[in-house]
Amino acid sequence: MSGTPSNHPFGNTAPAVGFFDSGVGGLAVWREFVRLAPDAPTLYVADQAHVPYGPRSPEEIRCFAEAITRFLLSQGVCLIVVASHTISAAALWPLREMFQEVPFIGIEPAVKPAAARTRTGVIGVLGTFGTLNGPLMARVVERFARQAQIIPRVCSGWVEQVEEGLLEGTEAEARIRQHLDPVLQAGADVLVLACTHYTFLAPLIRRLIDPQIALIDPAPAVARRAAEVWQACAQGIDPWASSHRFLTTGDPARFQAQLRRLIGWDGPVERLYWDPQGTLRAA
Ligand code: DGL
Repeated sequence: MSGTPSNHPFGNTAPAVGFFDSGVGGLAVWREFVRLAPDAPTLYVADQAHVPYGPRSPEEIRCFAEAITRFLLSQGVCLIVVASHTISAAALWPLREMFQEVPFIGIEPAVKPAAARTRTGVIGVLGTFGTLNGPLMARVVERFARQAQIIPRVCSGWVEQVEEGLLEGTEAEARIRQHLDPVLQAGADVLVLACTHYTFLAPLIRRLIDPQIALIDPAPAVARRAAEVWQACAQGIDPWASSHRFLTTGDPARFQAQLRRLIGWDGPVERLYWDPQGTLRAA
């Protein structure tokens, strides 16, 4: 893949799809989405100045999410993918309330498919503090898994590990085992990845678990839903050349290297700033 520099905002009239996350996790959803909708222009915002979001309060996450949404809308997106469980848990409902004309696609812990799959009745849900203690998690467990035993595990450090690019090797393995082993010891035969960053740890996790244990990653299902909604907004518009923009509130050179390593994207990265009023501004 190579980056085509785009004019502001997209150099075409196609409605674009906005994605955001605290960092690189949402790229797991973005990657699936562009496979399904290769013509769609996209814009991805990583708030790496504030990563990780997991231990932050829902109020703080809602403020960040609202400002990022305003920025995405100023750039001409027609659809916003909240490519994060933590942000969906804290802010999806308030965002839908606040921006009623905007379609938002969020992510909930994939407890429903896990409940259909488990034989032992024990489901491990791997996520951040915000996700596992948020209302969305409580709701999905209540709706879909009342009969199951849920083992929620806050996998502290995994988001930072993915941001650092520590996906393989002895140290990566030790950090994964610290959270994985207690969940396996509790008898879980299905593991839910309830944080988009963890998709990038899935190859290592798969090697560490029995092949009988199912690992559920919701990224493809979320991308499918986003592609359907995008097809509906893009209907009737002439074909265009797709363009992708990547923006970070952190270090653009670092994000560029992460994009190359994680999704094979080689292109420019734009810098965003938080101003003292909490508004997101382009450089
Ligand atoms: N990737 C995000 C999620 O799915 C955010 C994690 C974080 O920043 O703690 O939860």
